Amino acid sequence: MTPNLSNSNSKPYLAQRVTGLKPSGIRKFFDIVATMDDVISLGIGEPDFVTPRPILEAGIHALQQGKTHYTSNAGILELRQALADHLQQLYEVSYNPADEIVVTVGVSEALYLALTAILNPGEEVIIHTPCFVSYGAEIILAGGVPVEVPCHVEQRFQLQPEVLRAAITPKTKAILLSYPNNPTGAIASRKVLQAVAQIASEYDLVVISDEIYDQLVYGIEHVCFASLPGMKERTITLGGLSKDYAMTGWRIGYAAAPAAILQGLLRIHQFTIMSAPTAAQYAALVAIQQGSDHVAEMRAEYNRRRQLIVKGLNTLGLPTFEPRGAFYAFPQITVSGMDDEAFAERLLAEEKVAVVPGNAFGAAGVGFVRCSYATAFEKIEEALERMARFMQRHG
Ligand SMILES: Cc1ncc(COP(=O)(O)O)c(C=O)c1O
Repeated sequence: MTPNLSNSNSKPYLAQRVTGLKPSGIRKFFDIVATMDDVISLGIGEPDFVTPRPILEAGIHALQQGKTHYTSNAGILELRQALADHLQQLYEVSYNPADEIVVTVGVSEALYLALTAILNPGEEVIIHTPCFVSYGAEIILAGGVPVEVPCHVEQRFQLQPEVLRAAITPKTKAILLSYPNNPTGAIASRKVLQAVAQIASEYDLVVISDEIYDQLVYGIEHVCFASLPGMKERTITLGGLSKDYAMTGWRIGYAAAPAAILQGLLRIHQFTIMSAPTAAQYAALVAIQQGSDHVAEMRAEYNRRRQLIVKGLNTLGLPTFEPRGAFYAFPQITVSGMDDEAFAERLLAEEKVAVVPGNAFGAAGVGFVRCSYATAFEKIEEALERMARFMQRHG
């Protein structure tokens, strides 16, 4: 059940910025799904794969070796060095492991650090929607104001530079970029990102770039925003192990930024978290150093499922843009005559298939649902059969 945060006491114990937060739209569905049998969930935003064996063993080995203590606040140096090498190798962007990288408890923490470090009360952060459900809430918790810039399927869900420019006010502090995108699966072209870079320079904005799905792209390049000329200086790059390496439960992510910014994030991390889980850092080290074949294998399987689900949904009469990154398809469901909330509720009740209503990801998601293909191929096949029955009744 979603807890009710309003209180019956005359004195409100909780802060208004907390009581004012809307509960996540995703959570409501998971609460219902948890009470049902035989549900095929396309709702989950995490890999169905278990963490690849060598990575798993590195974590176990670290524990057996007695690595059960705190690490340095920024994370073990070997991991920071490996992350720096990795970013250099993949994107030719160079970070000094000594003072430009902090290992965090997932990208969730890295994002919170970035926002808390840069925002004064009331400063605005532009987010392009549809976007990850936590962005708006994390900005509010950090004292800022989220400003939504809608993206549309006609532009392949890419941020339109002129719309971005129109959303900038004297209070704008940062742009939060998120490509490959959750929930649309969109990637941003180099041209679009260059235009964003131009605007960021013109208005002297910080760019927080959440690139957690960077290695899950299908036949297309991922452009690391910080690698664009002149952008490293104003960019906080967020990356993580959760999605690419199937390590959600290990809780490892990182932030990389020029020292003057990164040291601000580190100060907050130091006082709130101390250090990311130690054994997980050793597992992450092996993932970064030796995990590329495993990532390639999982990516190939996601790609097979991606083709299945996109073709399947389009065949059902649900127009689905071709996602080129992450592991989500984002079909438009207006043909059903239902809104996205009703569509998801009835699909779950009538055919036991769980999808997430698009409005959970911002107003621009209205009329769409998110279907994750981080689930077995055969289950996706079965889900499509169930959805076909549903669409025969409601199409
Ligand atoms: C775009 C995006 N950023 C960040 C996260 C959080 O990931 P982590 O497990 O690293 O905290 C998610 C998880 O769904 C995500 O989709």
